[in-house]
Amino acid sequence: MRTKIVAGNWKMNLDVAASKKLAMDISDDIQNLKTNNTRIIIAPTAINLYPVFHQPNMDSRIEIAAQNMHQAKNGAFTGEISAEMICSVGITNIILGHSERRTYFNETDAGLAEKVTTALENNMNVIFCFGEVLADRKNEKHFKVVESQLENALFHLKDNDWKHLVLAYEPVWAIGTGETATPEQAQEMHAFIRKVIAKKFGENVAQQVSILYGGSVNPGNAKEIFAKPDVDGGLIGGAALDSVNFVALIKAIQ
Ligand code: 13P
Repeated sequence: MRTKIVAGNWKMNLDVAASKKLAMDISDDIQNLKTNNTRIIIAPTAINLYPVFHQPNMDSRIEIAAQNMHQAKNGAFTGEISAEMICSVGITNIILGHSERRTYFNETDAGLAEKVTTALENNMNVIFCFGEVLADRKNEKHFKVVESQLENALFHLKDNDWKHLVLAYEPVWAIGTGETATPEQAQEMHAFIRKVIAKKFGENVAQQVSILYGGSVNPGNAKEIFAKPDVDGGLIGGAALDSVNFVALIKAIQ
């Protein structure tokens, strides 16, 4: 059975006190919740990773992820953070390839391929994001675009690497817009993604990799999206900034 995942990408929101509080509120709210086969991940901004992770009494089911890292081991890259630095505070999950990184910070598939390699060399678990923009979908190029994003950033990997990979399909037109892909659109794309992975890495790899949907998921639409057979959870932005909403999403996948 594939692992289900509810992951909250906090983006550039919340100071240290608010980050610690949100994590503890989530922790308190899941105390009596059974979460079989579900990973719960939160991704605070870099400066808050350490204080959030090292809070005493936080529910041990809550995992922490960083939102970005540099591909180099170390060096003259002012303002950047390395895989080693993230691991050194005890955090081994990393989000890579988010569309906001691609759009605002010019991240490319080729650069992301290097980041994925570095992360895996450091024994990190990668949540790899990708997805088409609105014009691609309007022009019916969305399958082609997604396929090439996967090919260019992930096809250099070995079968074994996939144990440490989670995919997050995030159609750019649905991120922060309130416009969600329909459950059918999500399922259609997730099934296609699994086919692309199967063709290159075999059916076993394709069947075991968790594929998350991201883009305006909220407590009102989550259940229907998560119910689709190839949707293994969500990468959540806005709704992850509120403990009640985020816990509702965790409940929606049970
Ligand atoms: P929203 O849930 O705010 O649309 O953001 C999705 C996202 O970008 C998660 O990484």
